[in-house]
Amino acid sequence: MSTTTMRIASTSLCIVVGLACTARGEHPAGRPTLKEAFSGDFLVGAALNTAQSSGQAPDELALAQRQFNSITPEAVLQWDYIHYQPEGYNFAPADQFVALGEKYDMFIVGHVLVWEDVTPKWVFEDEAGNPVDRETLLSRMRDHIHAVVGRYKGRIKGWDVVNEAIDDDGSRCQNAWQRIIGEDYIEKAFQYAHEADPDSELYYNDYCEWYPAKKIAFANLVRDLQSKGIRIDGIGLQGHWSLESPSLGELEAMFADYGKLGVKIMITELDIGFLPEVNPSQYGKDISELSSDLDPYADGLPDKMERALADRYAEIFACFRRHRDKIDRVTFWGVYDGQSWLNYWPVGGRSAYPLLFDRELQPKPAFDAVIRTAKQPR
Ligand code: XIL
Repeated sequence: MSTTTMRIASTSLCIVVGLACTARGEHPAGRPTLKEAFSGDFLVGAALNTAQSSGQAPDELALAQRQFNSITPEAVLQWDYIHYQPEGYNFAPADQFVALGEKYDMFIVGHVLVWEDVTPKWVFEDEAGNPVDRETLLSRMRDHIHAVVGRYKGRIKGWDVVNEAIDDDGSRCQNAWQRIIGEDYIEKAFQYAHEADPDSELYYNDYCEWYPAKKIAFANLVRDLQSKGIRIDGIGLQGHWSLESPSLGELEAMFADYGKLGVKIMITELDIGFLPEVNPSQYGKDISELSSDLDPYADGLPDKMERALADRYAEIFACFRRHRDKIDRVTFWGVYDGQSWLNYWPVGGRSAYPLLFDRELQPKPAFDAVIRTAKQPR
């Protein structure tokens, strides 16, 4: 669909559902923003992409500034972005991101220090391509963490120190960190981050956070670090959810269980995906090579689905509000649908609708549904 057609389509949708349309990204008068609506409950954040944090998408940035009081970078602090080659760091985009968060007085989150998926191969290998030994890898990890955390000391207020290190059955992922360093790579990462900025909060971040085995494993990790006197401030629950899963019962149980840990709980990458599942053998392909059945909303989202998304978001935010005493922050993985990673993962070129603002930066029915939960008695 062309941009013009999309604009016409979204305008007629606004008329149909009776919403007041505004210029791209402008907030309709009389409606509270997300950060206002939940100001007594938790921070509301969004992940910014590089175009947004570098000023190349001013409308999107303006929307983020109005709605959110915390930001996380989608990419600019990842190892493969900031430290792609052994020599030298690409700090400029991260510098811009951090300066922006300060300018707008937002809680700035650092994502992410140790995560195999975004770590370049050179980190784990010597010049001949053989795996390095434990001491070499520890020293590379320490240098990286000290360089990155140290540079933004006192400015980035919380770090996702380790991401996605526990499998769905609760066991440790057999990633290169674990294979080369061993079990204690996680505690070393937290230790190094604490050395580099003693005042920053430090989090463990992961997905499928409602699985019973993961809940136990995260709890064990927190207790293990605490028993060794290593700082850990919170657990980041990614929140890549669907219309049905996790169920409300699973969400309630999850907050009840994590609530007992006595550390901060954050939803760190919230989005609601509902595109058809893709066979793993097709991961990485573009939709043009695959059946168009995998991209059912390429021409827009039917009202029925728009309402289903709104209902799901209402259920989720009502649950967040019930557990507001345990939840510190809720961060969406993106400002608006057009930027969502679900448009390009696990296959490229699909149209995903997982967030609260549409491709014209207009609030969706899901936005209103979320705002309404803020007005309900607790
Ligand atoms: C996605 C991002 O949107 C990309 O920009 C990034 O390069 C990698 O993948 N879990 C995470 C996020 O912790 O960093 C991922 O983000 C989504 C899954």
